[in-house]
Amino acid sequence: MTSDIAVITGAGSGIGSALAVELAGRGITVALIGRRRDALERTLALLPESSAGLVMTGDIAIDDDRQRLIRKISACVESAGMGLRYLIHNAGVGEPASGIETMDPDGLARALAVNVTAPLALTQGLLPLLRAAHPSRVLMVGAGIADRPQPGTGSYGISKKALTRLFEQMQVDFAQSRASEPDVALFQPGLVDTPGIRAHLEAARRCGLPHVDYLDQALADGECRSPRAVGEAMAEALTNTPSEDFAGATLRP
Ligand SMILES: NC(=O)c1ccc[n+]([C@@H]2O[C@H](COP(=O)([O-])OP(=O)(O)OC[C@H]3O[C@@H](n4cnc5c(N)ncnc54)[C@H](OP(=O)(O)O)[C@@H]3O)[C@@H](O)[C@H]2O)c1
Repeated sequence: MTSDIAVITGAGSGIGSALAVELAGRGITVALIGRRRDALERTLALLPESSAGLVMTGDIAIDDDRQRLIRKISACVESAGMGLRYLIHNAGVGEPASGIETMDPDGLARALAVNVTAPLALTQGLLPLLRAAHPSRVLMVGAGIADRPQPGTGSYGISKKALTRLFEQMQVDFAQSRASEPDVALFQPGLVDTPGIRAHLEAARRCGLPHVDYLDQALADGECRSPRAVGEAMAEALTNTPSEDFAGATLRP
């Protein structure tokens, strides 16, 4: 095993999977988190031969699962003498609805749990390891829709807006705290051709939402970025951006 470890939520598909491959290629051990073991194992199979990956299943919306994941990561880091250098909050959800009347409050609660509560709770639980590995980095994955409301995208947009605020809060709280706190940044990937965006497109189509035409066109014209290009840009930001350009920054591919 290598000495640095990166924990990536939502590593079984799309951007998270591509990021895992990129970081592993840079000699970093990757801990792959998601609910579906088969999806995480598909990512594991894509890692370069000499690299190390750990599959850790769990639902980050559930506190018991988060606590179990934190214990498992801590045990791995300690037993292998590794440093938790990177924590990437990539998993993201948010079901569309046809409008406010049909927007499911439980769906909003689920989106908030995955997109906001989990990044907070996982960062808190892993903070001792992040401090011990100083200098370490936390990267949140935002979405442009947080600042561009569109019909039917309430749960996703509201929760991503809250994630942006969580990023800002962590930044100011860490900045006035001790020197060994992790640097925190927000990454805005833009439109990326992933299973997630395609599932969103089909759900939005069922709801009859107007942005479906734009997404259809963007996917047909190849205007979406590839997960690989975005994973590479995120890995570059994590491993090669100087601290003064990373801490508190909103980064883009
Ligand atoms: N694609 C885009 O155009 C785009 C644009 C802006 C922002 N983003 C953001 O980029 C991030 C990655 O999205 P993506 O497009 O790559 O989507 P994706 O392919 O759907 O990947 C998301 C991953 O998150 C995991 N996940 C979902 N809920 C989870 C939970 N409760 N616990 C643990 N893991 C969970 C899923 O795996 P399981 O189902 O196995 O748990 C899935 O592998 C998200 O935060 C998304 O909001 C994407």
